[in-house]
Amino acid sequence: MVNIAVLGYGTVGSGVVEVINTNHNSINKRAGEDINIKYVLDLRDFPGDPVQEILVHDYEIIANDPEIDIVVEVMGGIEPAYTFVKRALESGKSVCTSNKALVAKHGPELMEIAREKDINFLFEASCGGGIPIIRVLNSSLTADEIDEITGILNGTTNYMLYKMSTEGSEFDTVLKEAQEKGYAEADPTADVEGYDACRKIAILSSLAYGRFLNYETIYTEGITKITPEDMAYAKELNMTIKLLATSRKVGEDSFYAMVAPFLLGQNSPLFSVNGVFNSVFVHGNVLGDAMFYGSGAGKLPTASAVVADVVDEAKHLHRNIMTNWTSRPLQLMEMDEVEGRFFVRVKGSTVDEVEKAFGKVEIVNLKDLPGEFAFICGPMKQGEYKEKAKMLNGKVLTMIRVKD
Ligand code: HSE
Repeated sequence: MVNIAVLGYGTVGSGVVEVINTNHNSINKRAGEDINIKYVLDLRDFPGDPVQEILVHDYEIIANDPEIDIVVEVMGGIEPAYTFVKRALESGKSVCTSNKALVAKHGPELMEIAREKDINFLFEASCGGGIPIIRVLNSSLTADEIDEITGILNGTTNYMLYKMSTEGSEFDTVLKEAQEKGYAEADPTADVEGYDACRKIAILSSLAYGRFLNYETIYTEGITKITPEDMAYAKELNMTIKLLATSRKVGEDSFYAMVAPFLLGQNSPLFSVNGVFNSVFVHGNVLGDAMFYGSGAGKLPTASAVVADVVDEAKHLHRNIMTNWTSRPLQLMEMDEVEGRFFVRVKGSTVDEVEKAFGKVEIVNLKDLPGEFAFICGPMKQGEYKEKAKMLNGKVLTMIRVKD
């Protein structure tokens, strides 16, 4: 028997208990062991819920119990999660977590402890909800040099943008819906400002390129400035707006990464990824293109990924599963050096003025928006775009990058 302790009985924690109870026969068969939830840790009580029988309020009980083989951290946030996880690993207990903030900040250190102890620190649920993308990067795409990862990595914002675009819903209303469905972070600023997607692309990039990408170095822009007017232009162009998290290797030792809203055309494989779904597009030098798709947030999809890690850890109780992630830092190039095309809305300007600054561009007019128009320019470096935009003397309303 393998005994586990679940830290946190919130959306994901209760999902983990539900998944293990619902599928215990097949899970035990796959793990080759009986998985027993010995404790659930939470500060709260849950009267009437059978979890009450195994509920503890004090982490010491778990830390000091030699029968606990695996600790499942699904509390979220950095503290006390970091202290609890580090302590568990140091005492020889494997850990799996859904906590992207923890992995993005302390991943290399926690992986190193697991390596030294010949146990495991796994984090499949930290990126892409139920999509097993970490396993793909760790164990499947091992023949390739990966040179691009581009993902829709936040279910909340993808759900919101989809509803705003198809139903014309208001930002606050759709955010509330996403929260009610259990998609959003405790503080939804992390979703709408792109911070959540930023941590996820940092994790995926670190695994793909074998070096530690510090999330604090990634340019990050959320969706709070996207308006119904931007959506109307996107529709006119037969395009859509998605929050993308992307990283690319553009030279031997040149990488860039960013999180930002992008305009996508219908030829993009990410165009039809709607609602709470996430998708990760990967390009490898021998594989070419591959894309992975699935539920990106929510109780059971996330719990499914967490429990898959429990099964893996039960199968490798005293053997470290190697990863390609090292603590050597991954340096990113300056954003001004990154090349792209840009969708720009201008008010009070003229086509002549725009073309004087940018050369020939594609113009879009919407009859419901008099006094303004939009254009698509590039490809050019972002620094060059900024210089040219300055020539429009403050008439730029919005700039959204175009995904090619
Ligand atoms: N808030 C996150 C999202 C949860 O919406 O994608 C899953 O990481």
